[in-house]
This record gives sequence, structure tokens and C-alpha cells, in this order.
Amino acid sequence: MAALDLVIKGGTVATAADTFAADVGVKDGRIVALADELTGAEEVVDAKGKLVLPGGIDSHCHIAQTSSSGLETADDFESGTRSALCGGTTTIIPFAAQHRGQSLRQVVADYHARADGRAYVDYAFHLIISDPTSQVLGQELPALIKDGYTSFKIYLTYDALKLDDRQVLEVLACARAEGAMVMVHAENHDIIGWLTEKLLAAGRGAPKYHAVAHAAAAESEATHRAIALSEIADTPVLIVHVSAREAMAQIAAARDRGLRIYGETCPQYLFLTAGDLDRPGFEGAKYVCSPPPRDAANQDHIWRGLANGVFQVVSSDHAPYRYAGPDGKQAHGAGMPFDKVANGVPGLEVRLPLLFSEGVGRGRITLNRFVEVAATAAARLYGLYPRKGTIAVGADADIAVWDPDKTVTIGHEMLHDNMDYTPYEGRRVTGWPVLTLSRGRAVWRDGEVVGTPGQGRFLPCGLPEAARPLDRSVHGFDPVSGAAAADD
Ligand code: URP
Ligand code: ZN
Ligand code: ZN
Repeated sequence: MAALDLVIKGGTVATAADTFAADVGVKDGRIVALADELTGAEEVVDAKGKLVLPGGIDSHCHIAQTSSSGLETADDFESGTRSALCGGTTTIIPFAAQHRGQSLRQVVADYHARADGRAYVDYAFHLIISDPTSQVLGQELPALIKDGYTSFKIYLTYDALKLDDRQVLEVLACARAEGAMVMVHAENHDIIGWLTEKLLAAGRGAPKYHAVAHAAAAESEATHRAIALSEIADTPVLIVHVSAREAMAQIAAARDRGLRIYGETCPQYLFLTAGDLDRPGFEGAKYVCSPPPRDAANQDHIWRGLANGVFQVVSSDHAPYRYAGPDGKQAHGAGMPFDKVANGVPGLEVRLPLLFSEGVGRGRITLNRFVEVAATAAARLYGLYPRKGTIAVGADADIAVWDPDKTVTIGHEMLHDNMDYTPYEGRRVTGWPVLTLSRGRAVWRDGEVVGTPGQGRFLPCGLPEAARPLDRSVHGFDPVSGAAAADD
């Protein structure tokens, strides 16, 4: 019997830290050797002229999710993970979403039932907490965190999801006590509500007004508030899907003050603008997401934030609602006002090729930084490192072999999700994975899906080091003991 199941031979390996020439040896789904020259494998993949990268981790995507308005996402665990692997992503972290009144434990069981036997690649779950009752925070959540659901998303907007500041503090206190990571959707609900009301009253309901209602100031105010609440509770937070310079400035300033505040951005803020919401007819609805894409100047800022470390991670925020159909963008009828249009854009499959082509290819970020924001940082932030997110002995053999010169024109017809459009139609990219391995098994080879639904496994997550509190009571209040400086 061969000592190795597989050797990836002659490629250039890149991690978040290093780029080096090495053969990669795989046995029983794990990376077991990195060396100049490996022999004795059952299968050899010739990777000469190719890049051998960790499979991507898409740590923010909505799969088989029921939205707060009752719409089902177009992608389930089969089509979502299929689409992911074709673009070099080998781990996804979607959400188990609590609606008010629901038991969190029941929600998790329900989302497992949606995923069981369907996924091509491995997956974990974040929780969405919309109803932080004392039962949820006192019992269900601590138990779920111990079971490997160590991150959760909370919302400062959307009627059905929004938490008030006091509830946010309660959630943060629970996260702090248990060591979990809190993700925040930071937009000011009342600003958006007020602007929406005024715009609609003035007859301005077209999709382009979504970008007016979801003002950058609403995002930056809520980001500032989330940071203030994080500081009071001494609990790190990660601000998701950051779209604009103003919110970035809040994150950068907080980090300058030594706070553990993390930032995520998405391709829609690097490649789309508010101008896309103004496409003819109702086409702009395809680009409605929250926060909305901004302008070219903001795109430049976001690219800079990727290079200089304001952002730790790039996710797709894949929230797939088809343009047509009962659960799609026009679920409430063609030409509906923007506030009735389902929020979200697809991007699971193209996240990495877009970022590689325009980021690495154009010299905006290094190859190592690409690996970091595409895979390694998410593994660290969500308790999956070093099993996922790197190429190292002992790690799962989740690997994407990239042809850095392969040119592809993106079109909805060539993608493998269950959508009826892509916001990136017609865009030319250079660089695409030619082979994707999930725990050592080929799932994508030379343009063909060769994996099997059901081979993906659930990943319980560990407690992330990044979620550790600072243990400093900056406001003269100790969130653990309740003691205050004023006691002295
Ligand atoms: O518009 C978006 N981002 N929709 C998905 C839900 C969310 O807020 O992440
Ligand atoms: Zn969100
Ligand atoms: Zn999202």
C-alpha cells in the first residue's frame, strides 16, 4: 500500500505567512507532509505553474435560510456548497437563524436537518439571535457554545431581528462569559426607517433609493455604537459587511485605542456601486443588499482597508434571492418599493476569483494577504484553526490548486448555484481553481464537479482566541464582578 494517498507535486504553496515551493502529501484526508520531493503516492497531481492554496472559508453566507419576512434563500446546502467548491471554497459558515419566540436549540436542530446529507464540503454554523430571553442567554446559548456553536450574529436593524442596546449588552455579557465571537450587522434602524418613510412619501420607491435610505451615516453611527457597547461590556465584536469609509474609520479608531474590534467586507463593496441599483426598469433590485454598495471612492477605501488590516476577512454574504419567482426579488410584485425587495446578493462562487484577480492580479494585496482574508483569518476568528484555513502538517487537506493565468468571463450560466443572475455578469477575471480538494477528495477538477452531496461534515467550532476580552475596565466598571472604580 502506498504511504500517501495523494501528492500535489511541483506547485507553489502559499499560506497567510509564506510562499514556497513544495510537494504536499495527503493521507486519510489530512496533510501529512510538505517536502521538496515526495514519492510513493497512489495519485499524483501535477501542479507545475500552479498555486497550491488553502481552500477558502466563506464565513458569512445565507444557505437554506428562512428570512425574517418568510422568504427561502434560493440555495440549499447542496447547491450552495457545490457553488462554493467550484470557486475554491471548502468550508462555509452559514447561519442557524432564530426568529422571535423560537427556542435556539430547536433552531439548531432544524438547520442541521436542512444540511444533513446534502453538503459537498464541510460547514459550521453561526447562530442568529433575535430573541435574547433569559432562557436563551442563561441556558440555551451557553450549552450551544459548549457544543461548538461559538459565534453568533446580532442585528441593529430589521424590524424582526433588531436588538436594542440593552439587549446587545446582555448578549455581549453572555459571549464574554462563554468565550464566543459576536458578529454585528451595524446599521441605525431609525435613520433607515425615517429616510424610507420620507422617500416613499415623495414617490421615490425605485431600487436606487435603497442606497439613499441606507445612508453611510446610518452604518457609521451603528458601528460606533456597537463599538461603544463592546467596550462597556469588554467583549470583542466583529462588524460584518462593512461598505463605507465612515464605518471603516470607526473600526480603525477603535483598534488604535487597543480594542478588539474586527472588520469584514464583501465583494459587493469592492466591485459594485450604488449606480448598479439604478439599472433600467427593476433590474436595480438585483443589487439591493444591506448595507448597499457605495461609490468608486469607497471601493478604493475598502481595498486599502484590506491591504492595511482594517479588515480581517472577506466573505461573500451570499444571500441568494432570485430575480424571478415566489421567493425572489419580486416576491411582493414587480416594481415594488425598495423596502419590500429581499435584501442580498449572491457571491459564493465568485468571491475568491474576483478577489484574486483584482486584488493579487492588480497588486492591491499580496498573495499571502489573499490567503489570509480568504481563509486563514476566518478559521482563527471562528475557532477552526489550524484544522482549516492553512496548509500545514496535520491540517485537513482542504486545498485549491489555482491556475493563476486562467481567464474566465463570469456569467450566470457558468455558475453552479441555484440563482437566475449574477451581479458580476460579463466581468473578466484571471485566476481560477482547477482542482479543489475537500479533506483530500477531489470535488472540482478541470471544470467539472466530481464530489458527492453528503460528503461534507458539520464542524463544531472551538472558542476563538480572538474573542477573548481585554480584561480591562476602561469605563471604571468591571463587567464580571460588577465592581466600579467609584466604589473606592
Ligand atoms: O443584504 C443583506 N446583507 N442580506 C443578508 C442578510 C444580512 O444582513 O446579512
Ligand atoms: Zn447583515
Ligand atoms: Zn448576511
